[in-house]
Amino acid sequence: MLLKPHRPRNRSHTLAQRLAAGGAALATVAAGLAGAAVLTAGATLAQFAAAPAAAAVDNGLALAPQMGFNDWNAFGCNVSEQLIEQTADAFVSSGLKAAGYTYVNIDDCWMTHSRDASGRLVPDPAKFPDGIKGTADYVHARGLKLGIYEDAGTATCAGYPGSLGHETTDAQTFADWGVDYLKYDNCNNNSDGSRQDFVNRYTAMGNALKATGRPILYSLCEWGQQSPWEWAGGVGNSWRTTGDIGDSWSSMIGIAHQNQPLAAYAGPGAWNDPDMLEVGNGGMTDTEYRTHFSLWSEMAAPLLIGTDVRTASAATLAILGNTDVIAVDQDALGKQGTVVSNSGGLVVMSKPLADGGRAVTLTNENTGAQTVSTTVSALGIGGASSYAVKDLWSKATSTTTGSISASVPAHGTVMLRVTPGTPVPPPTGVNALSDLPWTSAVSGWGPVERDHSNGEQAAGDGHTLTIGGVTYAKGLGVHAASDISFHTGGLCTRFSADVGVDDEVGANGSVDFQVYRDGTLVADSGTRTGNDPPARLTAGLTGGGTLRLVVTDAGDGINYDHADWAGATVACGSGPTAGTHALSDVAWESAVSGWGPVEHDRSNGEQAAGNGHTLTIGGVTYAKGLGVHAVSRITYYLAGNCRTLTTDVGVDDESTAGGSVDFQVYRDSTLAADSGVVTNNDSARHLTADLTGAMELTLVVTDGGDGNTYDHADWAGPVLAC
Ligand code: GLA
Repeated sequence: MLLKPHRPRNRSHTLAQRLAAGGAALATVAAGLAGAAVLTAGATLAQFAAAPAAAAVDNGLALAPQMGFNDWNAFGCNVSEQLIEQTADAFVSSGLKAAGYTYVNIDDCWMTHSRDASGRLVPDPAKFPDGIKGTADYVHARGLKLGIYEDAGTATCAGYPGSLGHETTDAQTFADWGVDYLKYDNCNNNSDGSRQDFVNRYTAMGNALKATGRPILYSLCEWGQQSPWEWAGGVGNSWRTTGDIGDSWSSMIGIAHQNQPLAAYAGPGAWNDPDMLEVGNGGMTDTEYRTHFSLWSEMAAPLLIGTDVRTASAATLAILGNTDVIAVDQDALGKQGTVVSNSGGLVVMSKPLADGGRAVTLTNENTGAQTVSTTVSALGIGGASSYAVKDLWSKATSTTTGSISASVPAHGTVMLRVTPGTPVPPPTGVNALSDLPWTSAVSGWGPVERDHSNGEQAAGDGHTLTIGGVTYAKGLGVHAASDISFHTGGLCTRFSADVGVDDEVGANGSVDFQVYRDGTLVADSGTRTGNDPPARLTAGLTGGGTLRLVVTDAGDGINYDHADWAGATVACGSGPTAGTHALSDVAWESAVSGWGPVEHDRSNGEQAAGNGHTLTIGGVTYAKGLGVHAVSRITYYLAGNCRTLTTDVGVDDESTAGGSVDFQVYRDSTLAADSGVVTNNDSARHLTADLTGAMELTLVVTDGGDGNTYDHADWAGPVLAC
């Protein structure tokens, strides 16, 4: 019989070769069986949820984005004690304090042009007759906090003495005065333009503030010049990402566009700052100001009012005081929203919220009204039959089964809060996770991908999931930091996946895969890098209502962290029932065959499903069994229910020209039966494997050490006794 006519010449992209090359096959199988780094620990999900995506400065401040007032946008250099104190009073009387606004901040021009005899900064006595200390006392007496401004240069932008070289003295002066917040600007910086110089100048003040022992929120203002999102997380609490905002639609929306892609860098204590609010200053319509305030909240930006709150209109106060929108900005999960679609000036953003829902902005950047649409799955949620929707501006409530759509005025934003209803439980059996609806999904870059790696940008821009040369048809492709939840409803018993950094980033990338059953860490891969083969990760889920898959950056930042949950499954229900089962009638957890698919009750014809023949070894035919091609691995979920596997094994008679393989049966990670090498000339061998207590049965066929040509291997008549 001629068996090989259709074998493709270029085999370089097949699983078979990748498995077989250079012994990788056995290494991979071994990694799958014995290398499973399955650890348990007492860490809880709450600890993860509290951990910032970016390394945050360790001062305990700005766990939610800071809220308050800064005089610059409305008053420029005309700052005064009277203005600051009256603003504090207005915060209290207008309800803004109750809405969460806390910091009353002084910008540039508060001091005299020279330091005093001991080198300390001097408040302008005409503007601040009681000094900064007296002003701070006044503000503190109203339950508010005081912020101040300085500059990491020889002079501030308006030409007053800068702090460069005076960091220790100035930080101590601020602490002595009772200052709670420093905005640190970047004019006249004498810089050589290097990133290191920026890091040095901003770190010097950060260290000086820490050394005072007073908690002082540290707001970096270097206008995004040296990509501060990449280094300032450990230096300050927020960093400006752009140049100065102006009171116009084009300035505001342009800054939003610059800040939108930076979500992965933000987290509690460390925020992207797209500059202060212009709401109320007159250069935009109220519709545009609502867009401004919606987008800033969606982006978890600091909310610093930049208008005169003493004289603000009711409409302005209604925008700034919208507590539903503020709650999005201040949400405890601390995620910046991301753009999930952007087409023709219609921009949809989604921000994960601590309650499992999403805040959504539907923005129309065009000059005429248009309909903006999205879906719950595009927002990163799913798995429920119904979702509650609240419009955070009109306050209208509704429900949807999945689609979301609104007519949005020119330059307007409809802002919604979308909350999943009761989630749908997964079906009984072994489910590919990529086929299940998740209840929540977050990825550091790009969306969580089903059955593809994460290409960092648009949905579907990744590749076949590949770890250490092994490709996987199914699984989830994410980018650190990532957090995905599935509803398991107390029905599921076991999680299984191969995990690793995807090959598409070469040797780069290092991540840590963690599995949580409700709030408990039940499996942890430890650090996996771009050089590592796949690691098998399994976890017991019994009794858990939620399965949560977390990928951290392993502590070294998120660059190149393309992480694959390859072949991820959840087994739900109770495993095989008592009695004997033909194994080919039992659903597997995972199945790999060197050529073609694993066949039920047929030999392996190398190509399409069903192209083999009746299972035949040494002239004996078998009605039931599994036809595979080396190198192969099949796993079954047993839930501890089964006792033995008995089976005949051998190379199928259709391999007339050769073939030699080794059949191995594993009870969890223990070898329970081994045929030794059998060839196409051998008659069937009989194997019996003790499976007592096994959660998982794994059937392995190796190439017998001589390459996998003609290796058509039959698990002939296997019977599982449970
Ligand atoms: C820079 C900053 C502004 C403001 C001015 C004050 O331009 O970016 O926010 O502080 O300086 O001079």
